[in-house]
Order: sequence, then structure tokens, then C-alpha cells
Amino acid sequence: MWLKSFAVANTITGAALASPALFQKQSGLGAFIEKESALAQQGILNNIGADGTLVQGAASGIVVASPSKSNPNYFYTWTRDAGLTMMAEIERLAAGTNSSLESLIQEYVDSQVKQQVVSNPSGTLSNGSGLGEPKFEVNITAFTGSWGRPQRDGPALRASALIAYGNYLIAHDKKSLAKTNLWPLIRNDLSYVGQYWNESTFDLWEEVNGSSFFTAAVQHKSLVEGAAFAAALGVACTGCSVAPQILCHLQEYWNGTAIISNTPTNGRSGIDANSVISSIHTFDPAAACDDVTFQPCSARALSNHKVYVDSFRLLYAVNQGRHAGQAVAVGRYPEDVYQGGNPWYLTSLAAAEQLFDALYQWDQQGGINITQLSAPFFSDLVPNATVGAYAKSSREYTTLAQAVRAYADGFIAVVQQYTPGDGGLAEQFSRSTGDPVSAIDLTWSYAAFLTAVARRSGSVPDTWGSSSATSVPGQCSAATVPGSYATPTIGSW
Ligand code: NOJ
Ligand code: NOJ
Repeated sequence: MWLKSFAVANTITGAALASPALFQKQSGLGAFIEKESALAQQGILNNIGADGTLVQGAASGIVVASPSKSNPNYFYTWTRDAGLTMMAEIERLAAGTNSSLESLIQEYVDSQVKQQVVSNPSGTLSNGSGLGEPKFEVNITAFTGSWGRPQRDGPALRASALIAYGNYLIAHDKKSLAKTNLWPLIRNDLSYVGQYWNESTFDLWEEVNGSSFFTAAVQHKSLVEGAAFAAALGVACTGCSVAPQILCHLQEYWNGTAIISNTPTNGRSGIDANSVISSIHTFDPAAACDDVTFQPCSARALSNHKVYVDSFRLLYAVNQGRHAGQAVAVGRYPEDVYQGGNPWYLTSLAAAEQLFDALYQWDQQGGINITQLSAPFFSDLVPNATVGAYAKSSREYTTLAQAVRAYADGFIAVVQQYTPGDGGLAEQFSRSTGDPVSAIDLTWSYAAFLTAVARRSGSVPDTWGSSSATSVPGQCSAATVPGSYATPTIGSW
């Protein structure tokens, strides 16, 4: 199986891993992570109603994107940001980090019962259309201004968060609560995915109307895990049957070396954090390094990681002096101009998280396989790395894994370097000075920090069953399933 044939005379050594300066920078990393983790968790709590100290007026359980009310005004709740944030919190609950989180999660569930029924410019619940509305007022009324809508990732992300909590309930002998309090919400969201996945959507950055890799990837995951969750509850998920069709279309974003995140590309390269964020949110700890679902350790996802990161090396002044194989500050996409078009905390953290995910997968699988496609990624880190299969017991594996870990830590160290003394994480940091830019205390930045450092310490979410969902239909179809939507009610806990 795993060959130990790393037959290079001048073989790779620890000394080739990184410059002394990088190691120096990382020396305070552990202390930073410990301190920032507490601040990040508090930063999230501060932004959730009704008790969040920075978001007065937000309803109970409502996750506000940021307390910033002007330039930019993020004092709204986005279904995407909220779903991703609560996913991180549910993971903490399941990891036993903090059992007092459960009431907060239940408040989120109850808030979504109210939010799902709000008629809005995207539509209503009766035919599901209203579920694609990207954002709401913090008191759970419709936002009626013009916006890039619908954004069809929201229902999938919310379903995945609720399924994670549902699986936690099932594991704690509370299956009936999962069925009464969660399934009606999840059924609406999965119905939406099954019915509307093939219609155009604004991407996660709310800019491009068309098809988005992230949207499709998280939709696929939600239907696969939704089918298993429904089976566990003894109920039917009709929309879930289209999962293979979404997987089929997902393959179309691959250009041979990277993921082209949007169709149309709107004149851009298509190289976009969209892809890396997809990989971390569809990470399955039980998966092989599967290219078809773009698992973090897959050759495709590693090649894409390199192409994505490299696109920012020469772009930002803050990256000056960092050579290939060293972590740099990364943003949404190289052509970005929003708020100055700077590096983002959450994208730099995602670059780290994908690598920690990959390390976990290699460890589980007992080896690292370098292919033609992933070789350029590895040879930036370990100059002599060559195509081959390296068993976990080999010296080469140890060298490669250490190099990847040092590289991943480098992205956290970049975040450390540009985090102000009070630990606040804004949306962006200046490409020229590194100073915080745009919305302050961005909830998603804090959530991204928590999941990245959880992966670094080997803490991972449950499997979503990706290994049962890797068979790509020979021909893609646009099959959809009409959803069944019903008004959910607030259950008692
Ligand atoms: C453009 C930004 O790029 C996008 O991410 C943002 O959500 C919208 N403007 C609205 O502010
Ligand atoms: C702009 C980002 O592009 C989008 O992804 C996010 O949902 C909103 N800001 C709110 O944080």
C-alpha cells in the first residue's frame, strides 16, 4: 500500500521546512491562540440577541453580523453568517467545551422558526422562495432595501447547523426533540435546496449572480447528511434525492489546477476564497482524500490552495518578503476592491483550517500521497518532495506533515500579527499597513478563528457521510424536486 520509496539521496530534512524568522514569529502562537479563543467566543456572544452587549435590539437567538451600523452597516442578521456561526457553537457543545451553550443554540432554533415565516422581497414560505432571502432586520422583520438576492446557500447552511444539533440530541437520547423542534425547520430548508438548487443565485460575497461553487458544495452536503438524518428520525426527505446531480455539476468548476468559483466569472480570474471556504465546510473527517467532493487533503483542494494563496503574494504590500511556501495574508479574490480590497481575517484563517483538516485526514488514513497535481503544493514546502505514497511510519511523512503544519500555523501567525491588542477581529486588515478595516467585531471572523484553532488541536466535526456520496452520475441533469413547506412552530425544550 504505502510505499516507503522516498529515494532521494539528498533527502528532505527539517532544516528545509521554513526560515528561522518564521519559527520566531510562531513562538508566541500558543499563547495568542489561548487568549484569542476566549475573546473570540465572547465576541460571538456579544453579537447575539437578546443579551449580546453590542447588539441591543436584536431578538433572542438572532446572530448579528457585526455591531457596525455605518460604513459598512452590518447591523442585520445574515442567514449564512448565522448558520456558520451556530455551526461552530454546536461543534463546541458537542465537543464538550461548554454545556451552557445549549440554551443559546435553542434560542437560535426558536429565532429561525420566526424567521422562516417572514415574507420578504425574495418571496414567502408557502413555495419556499422566501427562504433564499440573504438577510433580515435584527428584530426578525424583512429587510426591504435592494440587495443581491436570493442567496441560496443560506438554507443549506442553516440545515447543516440544525442537523448537527439534531445529531447531538439523538446522541443524548433526545430524538423526539430533534423530530418535533428541529425537523420542521430542516425539512423546509432541504425542500428549498432540492427545489431551487439549479436556479441562479448570488454568491456568498453577494456580488455575482449565477452559479457559485460554495453554494453548490454546501447544498450537496446538506442533502447528503439530511437524508441520513431523516432516516434516523424515520421520516422522508424528498429533496435529498437530487444530491448526486449537484455533485455532478460541482465537477464543472474544476479547471485542471484550481476551482473557478463563479459562473459567470464577471471578468475575474475566478480564483476565490469561495473554494477554500467550501473545502473546510464540507470537510469530512472520515473521508478519503477524495477529489470529487474536494476534501481538504485531496490533490485538487491542495492544488487549488496553492493557486489561491499565490494569487495574493505579490498583491498586498503586507506580504512583501514572504517567499513561496511561507504563509501570507489572503483575501476574498485578487480583483476585490470592496472597502479597499484587503486581506480578510476569515479567509486567512480558512487557509490555515484547510491544512489542519488535511493533516487530520492523512493521519486517519495512515499516509500522504503526493500526485502530479498536488506536487507543486508540497514542493513549495519541502523542496525535494516528489510524487509518491508515504506511509505514516516513514520519515518522509513526518517531514511533510511538519512542514504542512508549520505552513498552516503561519496563516494563524499572520492573523496574530494583524490582530490589534484588544483582540478584536474586524472583517479586513489593510493590505498596506495591516490595520483593521471595515466592519468591526465581525461575528464570522470570530467563528472562523474558533473552527481553525479547533482543527489545529485535532477537534473535528462528525462525519457527514461524504464517502457514501462520491459517485458522480455519468451525465449531469437539472432534476429538481418540488418541496413541501409547512409553518414551523416553537417547541418546548
Ligand atoms: C459589496 C461587497 O463586496 C459585498 O460583499 C457586500 O455584501 C455588498 N457590497 C453589500 O455591502
Ligand atoms: C459581506 C460578505 O461578503 C458576506 O459574505 C457577508 O455575509 C456579509 N458581509 C455579512 O458579514
